[in-house]
Amino acid sequence: MRQTLIMGNWKMNGSRAESQALAQAIVDGLEPGDQGIAVCVPFVYLSDVRSIVESTPVALGAQNVADQEKGAYTGEVSAAMLKDSGCSYALVGHSERRSYYGDSDQSVAARFCQAQKEGVTPVLCIGETLEEREQGQTFSVCDRQMEAVIEAAGIEALANSVIAYEPVWAIGTGKTATDEQAQEVHKYIRDRLAEKNQEVAENLQILYGGSMKPENAKGLLAQPDIDGGLIGGASLKAESFLGIYRSAS
Ligand code: PGA
Repeated sequence: MRQTLIMGNWKMNGSRAESQALAQAIVDGLEPGDQGIAVCVPFVYLSDVRSIVESTPVALGAQNVADQEKGAYTGEVSAAMLKDSGCSYALVGHSERRSYYGDSDQSVAARFCQAQKEGVTPVLCIGETLEEREQGQTFSVCDRQMEAVIEAAGIEALANSVIAYEPVWAIGTGKTATDEQAQEVHKYIRDRLAEKNQEVAENLQILYGGSMKPENAKGLLAQPDIDGGLIGGASLKAESFLGIYRSAS
């Protein structure tokens, strides 16, 4: 049985005070027995949020991680630093990183490996643009993005990771993939991985991301191969984030 994971991606939003207040409101909204919830916080606020979510079920994550271990890489944040700051997760290959900052498949794979080496679980984000979908390339894009990681890390490494399928055309646009569209790709991803390693594929959490909200979460999360959500906009308010979290249970 795969556990559901609802993960917020705060992106470049909020002040220190707002980050603390949001984290506190999420913690306050939890009920006994809750688990499978995480927030990916801007680097500079990781410590502030850590002190609020520590010893609660809310796991801490970063939105990126360096592709190198340490040294002269000005502006980068290493996996060891994330571990040291209390992170359990790090996003790698978010489409905004790929498209605005040139994160290539190879650099995403290197980030994935760095995170794992430090015991930070990488959340590998994959997904096609609208143009790629219209050209029938949805599956081949997901294949290419996964293959780069499998080549670098090996299929077994996916056992200690999470995949987030995020169709780029659905991110921040209000256009969600239908339940069927999302399930189709999630199933494809799992089937492809099962060809290489059945056990890894069966146990892997595959999250959906792209305009997930309390109103559409239930249908998406009810799909057999959707194991949770990576939530941007709707994770910036505790009420909507927890609304999504509740619709998973
Ligand atoms: P969104 O973002 O929920 O605002 O569409 C999701 C993401 O980019 O992770």
